[in-house]
Amino acid sequence: MSKVAWIGLGHMGVPMSANLVNAGHTVLGVDIVEPARERARAVGVQVVETVAEAVRDAEVVFTMLQNGDIVTDVLTGADGAFAHMPKGSVAVDCSTTGIDTAIAVNAEATAQGVSFVDAPVSGGVQGAEDGSLTLMLGGEFDAVAIAEPLLKSVGSYIVHVGPSGDGQKMKVVNNAMLGVGMATASETSVLAQRLGLDPEVFYNIVLRSSGDSWAFRTWFPMPGVVATSPSSHGYEPGFMIDLLKKDLHLATALAEESGVRLDVAASAEKLFAEASASGRGEQDCTALALELGLEVDPPS
Ligand SMILES: NC(=O)c1ccc[n+]([C@@H]2O[C@H](COP(=O)([O-])OP(=O)(O)OC[C@H]3O[C@@H](n4cnc5c(N)ncnc54)[C@H](O)[C@@H]3O)[C@@H](O)[C@H]2O)c1
Repeated sequence: MSKVAWIGLGHMGVPMSANLVNAGHTVLGVDIVEPARERARAVGVQVVETVAEAVRDAEVVFTMLQNGDIVTDVLTGADGAFAHMPKGSVAVDCSTTGIDTAIAVNAEATAQGVSFVDAPVSGGVQGAEDGSLTLMLGGEFDAVAIAEPLLKSVGSYIVHVGPSGDGQKMKVVNNAMLGVGMATASETSVLAQRLGLDPEVFYNIVLRSSGDSWAFRTWFPMPGVVATSPSSHGYEPGFMIDLLKKDLHLATALAEESGVRLDVAASAEKLFAEASASGRGEQDCTALALELGLEVDPPS
């Protein structure tokens, strides 16, 4: 069994680290927010005060943080993880950060005598709870080989895509499609409601028709139909609007750099940005439908 550090005990970090605890590993966790720390303690994570304390004896250090700036700071900062990790240990970043962050952090890891794997995930909180996430890995073979036995406790489809940054490449492309799927599921839900369609009839027919998608099926934005969708739980995240907005921006910025049109994803980014600007940034991404006029009782 391994000694593991887990930095970032949020919506994804808690269920993912819980699966490592349940597999028999010792997990030392860190978060800057007390409610997150409390939830982690409840699943058996040994919560400590500092990154240094968490990583000192760790074989593998996981990060699951909101964005690339935070990941860079936590791993490469003056008192960050790399400064305290044992030589030869591996940092595995499961956050969605974009390609440039992964490549820059990997270079810093090498300079400090540790290894780095970008390992973004897909499958949402439900996938994290079930240990059924998809993991897309970018990094050196040796580092991936050290991390892989632990990753099997958090995911069920684990692919080494290529060198550093390649996991993020895959994730950015995937989440452009997720963002578009969530946007269209939200817009069409509002239209279906205006047309007087029964939500359950609408859902069940699309599920068996050509309009179906992972986003529609899993995160149906009308409440009371899919019990596990955040829309059925007051639009509590789940996956926050601000995070999906960030992912869509990673995709549209890369498309622009690459001279590729991503017009549909750009429209989705605009919708999520508007929802964020109107104060819904910390609601689940299914709440885009509310922003677009879906009526729910009681109002959310
Ligand atoms: N929620 C999802 O469904 C989902 C799915 C796939 C990927 N992701 C990606 O995973 C990452 C995490 O997502 P999440 O939904 O768990 O976010 P979250 O905001 O719920 O969790 C992030 C946690 O990091 C903590 N944190 C922030 N700064 C910190 C620091 N300096 N030191 C220690 N802890 C710190 C926060 O307090 C928070 O608890 C994001 O990059 C997101 O895009 C999320």
